[in-house]
Formats: sequence, structure tokens, C-alpha cells
Amino acid sequence: MIKHFISLPFLAGIAGAINLQIASNGGNASSPLMYGLMFEDINHSGDGGIYAELINNRAFQGNREYPSTLEPWVPVGNAILTLQNTSIPLSSALPTSVNVAPKPHSNTAKIGLLNPGWWGIDIKPQKYTGSFWTLCSFQGTFTVKLQSNLTDEVFASLDIPSLCQHNKWVEHTFELIPHVAAPNSNNTFVIEFDSSSGSVNFNLISLFPPTYNNRPNGNRPDLMEALKSLNPSYYRIPGGNNIEGDIFHYPWRWNETIGPLTQRPGRPGTWGYTNTDGLGLVEYLNWCTDLDVEPVLAVWSGMYLGNDVGHILTAEALAPWVDDTLNELEFILGPVSTPYGSLRASLGYPEPWPLKYLEIGNEDNLYTNGSSTYAAYRFSMFYDAISAAYPDLKIISSTGDYTAVGGSGSTATLTDYHVYSRPDTLVSMFNHFDHASREYKSLIGEYAIVQGNVEGPPQGVDWDLPKFDYPIWIGAVSEAIWSIGAERNSDAVVGMSYAPGFQNLNSYSWSPDLISFTADVSQTVLSTSWHVISLLSNNRYTSTVPVTSDSPIGPAYWVAGTSGNGKYTFKTAIYNSTSPLPFNITFEGVEKGTPGLLTVLSAPGGLSANVLEENGAPANVVTKNEINLVAGSGGLFEFKLNNWEVAVLTT
Ligand SMILES: *[C@@H]1O[C@H](CO)[C@@H](O)[C@H](O)[C@H]1NC(C)=O
Ligand SMILES: *[C@@H]1O[C@H](CO)[C@@H](O)[C@H](O)[C@H]1NC(C)=O
Ligand SMILES: *[C@@H]1O[C@H](CO)[C@@H](O)[C@H](O)[C@H]1NC(C)=O
Ligand SMILES: *[C@@H]1O[C@H](CO)[C@@H](O)[C@H](O)[C@H]1NC(C)=O
Ligand SMILES: *[C@@H]1O[C@H](CO)[C@@H](O)[C@H](O)[C@H]1NC(C)=O
Ligand SMILES: *[C@@H]1O[C@H](CO)[C@@H](O)[C@H](O)[C@H]1NC(C)=O
Ligand SMILES: *[C@@H]1O[C@H](CO)[C@@H](O)[C@H](O)[C@H]1NC(C)=O
Ligand SMILES: *[C@@H]1O[C@H](CO)[C@@H](O)[C@H](O)[C@H]1NC(C)=O
Ligand SMILES: *[C@@H]1O[C@H](CO)[C@@H](O)[C@H](O)[C@H]1NC(C)=O
Repeated sequence: MIKHFISLPFLAGIAGAINLQIASNGGNASSPLMYGLMFEDINHSGDGGIYAELINNRAFQGNREYPSTLEPWVPVGNAILTLQNTSIPLSSALPTSVNVAPKPHSNTAKIGLLNPGWWGIDIKPQKYTGSFWTLCSFQGTFTVKLQSNLTDEVFASLDIPSLCQHNKWVEHTFELIPHVAAPNSNNTFVIEFDSSSGSVNFNLISLFPPTYNNRPNGNRPDLMEALKSLNPSYYRIPGGNNIEGDIFHYPWRWNETIGPLTQRPGRPGTWGYTNTDGLGLVEYLNWCTDLDVEPVLAVWSGMYLGNDVGHILTAEALAPWVDDTLNELEFILGPVSTPYGSLRASLGYPEPWPLKYLEIGNEDNLYTNGSSTYAAYRFSMFYDAISAAYPDLKIISSTGDYTAVGGSGSTATLTDYHVYSRPDTLVSMFNHFDHASREYKSLIGEYAIVQGNVEGPPQGVDWDLPKFDYPIWIGAVSEAIWSIGAERNSDAVVGMSYAPGFQNLNSYSWSPDLISFTADVSQTVLSTSWHVISLLSNNRYTSTVPVTSDSPIGPAYWVAGTSGNGKYTFKTAIYNSTSPLPFNITFEGVEKGTPGLLTVLSAPGGLSANVLEENGAPANVVTKNEINLVAGSGGLFEFKLNNWEVAVLTT
């Protein structure tokens, strides 16, 4: 499907304007979902990322792959910290706690423990909501503090009378309101107590800043705002690889991510550490509610990550997972009279969530035997059971093609197509969906430019070579062209989502990513790709319209659409032009004097990335210019665009 369009020597000869006449009808309906989001819980983009919990390793969760650890807790004032499985556990999900004891023969009265957060804690004069559980007989007061890790400054401190009871875990809750903002995020959270009456066991030590929409156990407001301002329509949750589990064969289990935090054991995540599962199924669905997007729920379909023998379940072994998916769907969609609908109601959600899309697996075409087992039984087992119980659910296959067929003979009508690419290659795929079937549709569930151009014809990604650390402007322009190609076919392409969404700058394993962040909310970096999506996604229309042109596609790539009532949207991106390009555009029915708004994204500083600079300030290479135009005689809009610009004209 890779077609090469342009040859530069030919282009160099074009001097006149690109003359375009845009018709008022005769196009195709556009997908209302067109721009969406994809979350992948890669290194600390959930825990330590958008999930707002400030305490790192709050409940000493461990498992076969990543045993419980004290990291990054440190003792305060001659304390000895020891992990213990007490005979009375906080819960069967959270059996391990930290015992804080005075060092023998030490005289320090105050002892305690300190947590540095996820590479720091952002401190502002706002309400922090905290809690911790104790097993002890201590009867004095605990002191909780937010303090600098660099100076002696204490930003907030509170004494909490002990509620300890003999042989019983007890929760303490509190609120901390710092009196000033800390100058940086090198801060820690501390709990101290008087050691004279012996040791205390602590577990589930939690501290939240204000969250988006004030959700308890919620998300970081700044990162939610960064998603919300993309005007997204869907959200692929709870991730791709995140549902699978690696060689320890532990896929995401919805039923272990719900209910009180004391009931969530956590799991070995796919990116090198234990996931707390504080960000669980209910939180994912609320996240969709808060962004006002359609959830696209992924369920695991029997293939673990890796290619070890035994990483694909047999039909017999897979059957319980089909039942488990039906339980999950009953939890989300079922009436309160059903067992799992009732469980949902017991958690405070009597109303079902509005789930319409479900994806069976993730990239099941990968690995030896992936495609063949998916087509032979894995897809159909889920498809048949789910479509029988929930006939209105739109079911998506994960292989990017239409090879998977339901056992009843019906084919998946929607498939998830992923592309990671290089700029020239993605531009050469501009017409990828031009000849796609309209009966069967695609969701571009993941796309990104991850490596640069190489000599010679367009090439795929070399996964043995490094990827970009951050999205760069030439990549963002080529993604704009790919998006414009998808929009032209948005009767066949249901939607598209850049992946992955987040990069924790203190510990990341997959790059580039859409949004980078640290604990310091002033350091959030919106990537070049983010700016392109924001422009394209905030300018929607309901159907495409035909464009008549005297110029070939390339170096300008375009699409035009209308929402009726004489409203038009024209989108274009310029790639590899040797000179500025004049445009002459008319829209059918638009007369002289009609105002238009031309929004142009460019990167005057070159084809580089939006990054966090050494001084800690986000640097933005993307410039956005808004230019008011007025249609001249015959309704003609005239303007010029330079190479590497992405523009939208609305009228
Ligand atoms: C754009 O159209 C106008 C009106 O038809 C014409 O005068 C002008 O020469 C055109 N511009 C170019 C660069 O072709
Ligand atoms: C509408 O879709 C058809 C293919 O189904 C395509 O040939 C045509 O160019 C599309 N029209 C527009 C304006 O996008
Ligand atoms: C607690 O129990 C778990 C599960 O049996 C075990 O893996 C872990 O090593 C124990 N931890 C301690 C500190 O005893
Ligand atoms: C502050 O914290 C950041 C992030 O953990 C770290 O990189 C930096 O070195 C710290 N600064 C100092 C002066 O400790
Ligand atoms: C800073 O945090 C580290 C743990 O990250 C801890 O070892 C150290 O004692 C802290 N220093 C101060 C002054 O709080
Ligand atoms: C969750 O479901 C799995 C698979 O059905 C089951 O093995 C597991 O015991 C369940 N966990 C809980 C906590 O109910
Ligand atoms: C793929 O399937 C073949 C035939 O069933 C089997 O021999 C082989 O071990 C499988 N490979 C993997 C990696 O599962
Ligand atoms: C862009 O220009 C370079 C030469 O400068 C050429 O190798 C490449 O194929 C062009 N790419 C596209 C998509 O036009
Ligand atoms: C991912 O996170 C884990 C746990 O914090 C860490 O050990 C690992 O080094 C991280 N990976 C990268 C590439 O930073």
C-alpha cells in the first residue's frame, strides 16, 4: 500500500498558485470519533503520572515478579524500617506493611519515615488529602509534614492524635494545607511519632493533591487539561500492552482493580515495576466520563507478551477468560439486578457506563502463531459470546486487517490498525485508506513517528535502533499529512489516536510520547505532535466535500469539509516544498467579504522538539499564528504557506 507521490525536480518548476475550488456537497460523512486518545501505562505514566497519588510505593505491594520493597522510603531520626507480614494483615490484598521501630539504645524521641514522592512532590497552597493505616498500641500523636528535601523548610505540618487499637488496623485521615508554594518539587512527605512507646506498623500511606473534577482517587488536573484541550472523542483503555502481561503471565485483571484501595493487590505491570492498580477499571471509566469521550475497552484475548512457547492460550484455557470478559461487561453494562451490576452499584455506581466499543486483544498479529490462533479461535470465542450477550457493542479486532472472523461466520467489521513510522514513509502512505473497504472500517488505535528519514525509498522502523526521545516537528508535519489522509477517508477510518500518551521524564522506557511531565506541574511539555492534533481535532466538520484542483497532491496535502450552513473547514500541511506556496481557494456559495480564519502552525526554530530545557522550563518550538482573511472578488481566499507548515482555514 506504499505509494510514492512526488519527485522534487518536478516540483521545483511550480511557481503559480494552488487553485482549489471546494464544493458544498458530494462528499462522505465523517466519523464523529475522528480524534481520540490512547493510554499506555508505560513507565510511571499511570502510577507516578496522571494518577495523582503523591506517595511512591504506598502499600508495599509485591508479587512473584517484583517482590515488596522499601524503596524509596527512608527512615527518619534513628528509625529502623522493616517490611513485615503481620499475623493480622491490613487485608489479604495488602499483607505487607512497614514496621517503624527505634534503633536499640538510641535516645531520639521522634522517629518516622520519609517518602520522596515520584521524583519529587509538587507543593502549592492547596488542600492535600491524606490517609494512613496503622497497627500499634501507640497513644500519642503522629505528625505529618510536607517539607523541602534541600533545606529545613516545612511547608505544612499537622498533629494527628493516634486512633490505634490493640490488634486492629485503623485508618487515620487528614488534610494538609501548605502556607506557601515550594520553590521546586524537591520535597518529601514525612510521618513522625514519639518512639518511647515502641514501634508502629504503617500501610497504605496516601496523599493526594486536588484532582481533576475533585474525583477522590483521581487524576492530575494539568495532565487532564492537556488531554481535554485536544477535544478528544474516544479513549482506548486500559492500554495495549498493559492488558497483556509479560513472561510472568499476569494479564490485567479488571476484578482486582476495583473497590477500596485496601482490596487491590496490584500486579506486575508490563513495564518493569508493580502497578498499584489504584488506577483501576472504575477510574478508567470515570476518566472517560470526565473527558466526555467514548471508552474503547480492550480485553485480553489470550496472548502474553513475548514469544515463549506457551504464551498463547489454548481454546480450553481461554474459555474462563471469555466468561471473565462477560462478567466485566456485566459490571459495566448490566442492570443492578445482575450479580456484577449489583457489585457496581455497591461501589456507588447504580447507572451503567455508556460503553459502545470493545477491542478484543492488542496487536494479536504479532509473534509466532499470533495471527493464526487469533483467526482460528481466539477472536471468535470472544466475538460470539460478546455479540450474543451485547448485540449493540461494536467489536474491534486487534490485527489491523480483516482476517479474524467470528465463529458464526460474520467478520469483524472494525479493526485496529497501528503504524509507527518515519516522516517520508508516513507521507508516502497519505492515500493508504483511499482504497479501503467502506464496509469494513479501521480505527488507527496507535500511530507515531519514532525515527528519522533514511536515504533511499521510504523505509519502516528499525526496532534495533534508538527512537526519538520526543516528537519532533518534521514528524508532526508528516503525522498531520497522515491525519489529513485519514480525514479524507473518515467514512472508512473511525478514528485515530497518537500513542503513547505520556512520558515521565524521570523514568521512561518508550519514546516519543504525546505529553512529557515531571512531578513539577510547571514542567509539563506539550509535544509538537500534541500541537498538530490540537489544531486538527478542534476543527471538525461533519462531512468531507470534493475539492477540484489544478495542482497535484504534494508538497501540499489537503482535505476540505463542511458542517452545513455554509461553514467550511480546509486543512493542509506542507512537506518538502522548495518555495513558499500561494493558495487560491473558493468555497461554493461563499461570497466576497466573507471572513475566514487561517491558523498556521510552524516551527521557525527548525525541525526540532518541544523539550524541557536545562533550566527546567519547557521550550516550545511550535508557533501558532491566527490570521484573519476576507474573501475577495468571487469569494476568493488568497494566502501563502511555507514549507513545514500545518494550517486550517475556517469560514
Ligand atoms: C489567484 O487568483 C487571482 C484571482 O483569480 C489571480 O489574480 C491571481 O493571479 C491568482 N494567484 C496566483 C498566484 O495564481
Ligand atoms: C467519498 O468516498 C469515495 C469512496 O467511497 C471517494 O471516491 C470519494 O473521493 C470521497 N469523496 C470525498 C469528497 O472525500
Ligand atoms: C509476605 O508474604 C509474601 C507472600 O507470601 C511473600 O512473598 C513475602 O516475601 C512476604 N514478605 C515478608 C516481608 O515476609
Ligand atoms: C531535585 O529533584 C530532581 C528530580 O528528582 C533531581 O533531578 C534534582 O537533582 C534535585 N535537585 C537537587 C538539588 O537535589
Ligand atoms: C531527601 O530525600 C532522600 C530520599 O530521596 C533522603 O535520603 C534524604 O534524607 C532527604 N533529605 C532531606 C534533607 O530531607
Ligand atoms: C479475578 O478473576 C480471575 C479470573 O476469573 C480469578 O482467577 C481471580 O480469583 C479473581 N480475583 C478476585 C480478587 O476475585
Ligand atoms: C506455534 O505453533 C506450533 C504448532 O502448533 C508449535 O509447535 C510451536 O511451539 C508454536 N510456537 C510458539 C512460539 O508458541
Ligand atoms: C523529501 O525530500 C527528500 C530529498 O530532500 C526526498 O528524499 C524525500 O523522498 C522527500 N519525501 C517526500 C515524502 O516527499
Ligand atoms: C521503568 O521503571 C522501573 C521501576 O521504576 C525502573 O526500574 C526502570 O529502570 C524504568 N525503565 C526505564 C527505561 O527508565
